[in-house]
Amino acid sequence: MKKTKENNVSERVYIFDTTLRDGEQAPGNTMNTQEKLRVAKQLEALGVDIIEAGFPIASDGDFDAVRQIAQTVKNCEVAGLARANDADIDRAWEAIKVAAQPRIHTFISTSDIHLKYQFKKTRDEILKIAVQAVKRAKKHTRNVEFSAMDATRSDWDYLCRMFAEVIDAGAVTINVPDTVGYTIPEEFGKLIRYIVENVPNIGKAIISVHCHNDLGLAVSNSIAAIQNGARQVECTINGIGERAGNAALEEIAMILRTRKDIFPADTRIISEKIYPTSRLISSITGVGVQPNKAIVGANAFAHESGIHQDGLLKAKLTYEIMKPESVGISKSSLVLGKHSGRHAFRDRIEGLGYTLEEKELNLAFKRFKALSDIKKYIYDEDIEMIIMDEIYKIPEKYKLVYLNVNCGNVTIPTATVKLEVDGTVYQDVGFGDGPVDAIYKIIKKIVKTNSKLEKFSINSITQDMDAQGEVFVKLSEKGLVAIGKGADTDIIVASAKAYINALNRLEYVKKKKLEVK
Ligand code: KIV
Ligand code: ZN
Repeated sequence: MKKTKENNVSERVYIFDTTLRDGEQAPGNTMNTQEKLRVAKQLEALGVDIIEAGFPIASDGDFDAVRQIAQTVKNCEVAGLARANDADIDRAWEAIKVAAQPRIHTFISTSDIHLKYQFKKTRDEILKIAVQAVKRAKKHTRNVEFSAMDATRSDWDYLCRMFAEVIDAGAVTINVPDTVGYTIPEEFGKLIRYIVENVPNIGKAIISVHCHNDLGLAVSNSIAAIQNGARQVECTINGIGERAGNAALEEIAMILRTRKDIFPADTRIISEKIYPTSRLISSITGVGVQPNKAIVGANAFAHESGIHQDGLLKAKLTYEIMKPESVGISKSSLVLGKHSGRHAFRDRIEGLGYTLEEKELNLAFKRFKALSDIKKYIYDEDIEMIIMDEIYKIPEKYKLVYLNVNCGNVTIPTATVKLEVDGTVYQDVGFGDGPVDAIYKIIKKIVKTNSKLEKFSINSITQDMDAQGEVFVKLSEKGLVAIGKGADTDIIVASAKAYINALNRLEYVKKKKLEVK
């Protein structure tokens, strides 16, 4: 797949990360501005080429987050999404114009199904709107991407006409979304080839693809597209996104890297930062990664069967196609413990992709020492939890002061909770269906919250008996959502911490919303 005049392909595949837009808009993946900024910085460090930071016209909060990301990120492009109309495009530009490399991404549907039922417009009318939108965006920046929504269910010749006209209007990237995850690799590959061969001015634009995973084919379809001339892939960390999600960035990057023999095209992803990025997303959203998920799942590099283990001991090559270290899963994560010093701790933190100031390092180290008194081995996941808790914490209106629980198979679960609310300590006692229920009822009573508990889940962060339990809680109130996390070697304490953390986050979101207004 060498670069030639006919196939218009280069040796580089651009990674357009839409974790903060398509990923974030999926249920359960909401992030606040501070969290989005952290993700953007991590994506920049990971080496993505374009960060789609959000949909600025969607809300003031979205606009603000996109603008802050545009101000912060320097080493990759920052894109803002806009429907094909002046208001959306101007708003997107307003949010991204401070970026070192801004991009406007405008879109409209091209399938007859969408035109008939959603837009109630003819193909010619839609074509005109698309061209006008690209021209409008072009007034702001030369870097304009156009997406033909539901492209895979569109008429191929109409699609080619549309792309030819938007390229004439100035689009430098044309995106072919499989919006509903309908296509299959062979068909999608043919469509991309058809575009290469039938859009006369295609040499002036990069072909991008954006695949959804409804049939589990998002990554395969993206790969088929690359084999047929696409040179930008839109994807997300852990494959999060609308419904069944988007193509997973980590899978695309590692397919191209692992099968260099087939793909002479590569990304500039720093693969060692894949795993820390995946962890960051799941710890912010509270959405865990399935254990058997390729590349970043807990079992992705675990070999259980005797035959496999025997082979691995003889030569890694027998059953290992990638090294865990190459995606940032550190084999040496076991080394930290009670006797580890500051130096080793700092090294591990940096290896995980975090840069802490001296004061922050001191705080985290103190907490690490306390944890290593009760836990023999400290894993990467434990350290990340410490960083989340100590460094990236939000203002605490509510603080847990004291917790006592009685429970068992012959006892009515009873809890006593002391909680500090804005500096004043309140105490109460009560019963529940279980220890967590008892605690949550008392906290609810003390803080008088109207929020609804939407989700509660417990995971073990690592595998030992003394592992920390990680609890996620999702609360909602009048359309606002907050996810809280808590970790402790005692899961009851972790549950209380997670609930209080979610309440603090909800307060924070409420306050931010008022500030934006
Ligand atoms: O899935 C889709 O079609 C999209 C577009 C906005 C690119 O997300
Ligand atoms: Zn999408």
